[in-house]
Order: sequence, then C-alpha cells, then structure tokens
Amino acid sequence: MKFFLDTGNLDEIKRIVKLGLVDGITTNPSLIAKEGRVFKDVIQEITAIVSGPVSAEVVALDAEGMLKEAHEIAQWAPNVVIKVPMTEAGLEATYRLSQEGIKTNVTLIFSVAQGLMAAKAGASFISPFVGRLDDIGVDGMQLVRDLRDVLDLYGMKTEIIAASIRNLEHVEAAALAGAHIATIPGSLFPSLWKHPLTDIGIERFLKDWEKVPKQG
Ligand code: E4P
Repeated sequence: MKFFLDTGNLDEIKRIVKLGLVDGITTNPSLIAKEGRVFKDVIQEITAIVSGPVSAEVVALDAEGMLKEAHEIAQWAPNVVIKVPMTEAGLEATYRLSQEGIKTNVTLIFSVAQGLMAAKAGASFISPFVGRLDDIGVDGMQLVRDLRDVLDLYGMKTEIIAASIRNLEHVEAAALAGAHIATIPGSLFPSLWKHPLTDIGIERFLKDWEKVPKQG
C-alpha cells in the first residue's frame, strides 16, 4: 500500500518526506483554507518537494467550470492530479480530462456504485471517505473492501485512495482491505511508527546499559 499525506502543510510534508514515506499528497479546499495562503503557491511548493501525485481540487460545480479550473491547475506542475467531486458534472469533467490524458481523483465517494461510475468515467483515483461513513454508523472500510473486489473483478486500473482516515486502526484496516493508497493526516502519521512498548524497551535498554563497565 502506498502512503499519501492528506495535508496542505509544508512543514508536515517535509517532516515525513525525510523518512521516505510519502508517495503522494491529497489536499481539499478545507485543508488549503487552513493554511491561509494562495492555492497555487501551496500546490507548487508541494509539487517541488513531492514527485508523486499531488491532488488539487476544483471548486466549480458545472463541468465547463471544472474543466477551466482543471486546465489551469494542470499547468502548475507535471505531477498534479485534478480532484473532482462525485457529481454528474464531475463525471463529465473526469471523462473529458481522461480523454486528454489528465489524471483525476474523484472525491466524496460513499458507495460502490459511485466508485464504479467514477472508474468507468476514467478516474485515475477514487477516494472513498471511510471516517465520514463511520460517523453515520456505516462501516467505511467495508466500502474499500467492496470497491477493491469490484475493480479487480473487472480488471479496472483505477486506484483506491482510502480517505477520511481518522486513526491508526483505519490505516491498518485499509492495508488489509486492499486499498492501493491510504491518505493520512500529518498529525496522525507519527502514530504509525510509535508504540508504548517500544519507548519502554528503549528506556530499559538504556538503564541496563548504565550497568555495563566502561573502558578505563
Ligand atoms: C481526501 O482526499 C480528503 O481530503 C480527506 O481525507 C477528508 O477527510 P475528513 O473527512 O477528515 O475531512
């Protein structure tokens, strides 16, 4: 499974990039707004650090508007991916962009049918929102499992990004569910390499190390 960072924050990205763990980035209008900076600047700075796919979302609600934004965003960097909402207009934009060879990430996927439609329209990536489904009492990870089964069954090349990831258990379950990618908030990432028993183990080793006779 590949790891994307779900953030627009440069410091978070630089910290995790140093560990060789970042395969790509996803942003959305809310994450960009949090940074209080110009959209284009944020995306261009991210694409200068990360060579994998960097998703930047359109905000128009009609297909022509989405295409206009997409064509501009696509010029910002070669590894930019156009994030499009899962609507009828979004499907049209996805189809037309795929015909032009521009990669898309169809976002706000909450059902197998939506995922299938987006894949069929030519999406490079689909983003099922696991946490937001859990929030309404639906097993979000089951959607990821089902989508993987369906894509494999029909040999579709679209990649699943497990999105709206809220905790460590989500990341582990996404790997087991066959998500191609998990997109993880920067604040959550450190919990992936931490374990209390690791900290206790280090402390114990260092204490015992003090008892080892030192060279004269
Ligand atoms: C995915 O691409 C979205 O940016 C993100 O995962 C949404 O997560 P949230 O439900 O925590 O806002």
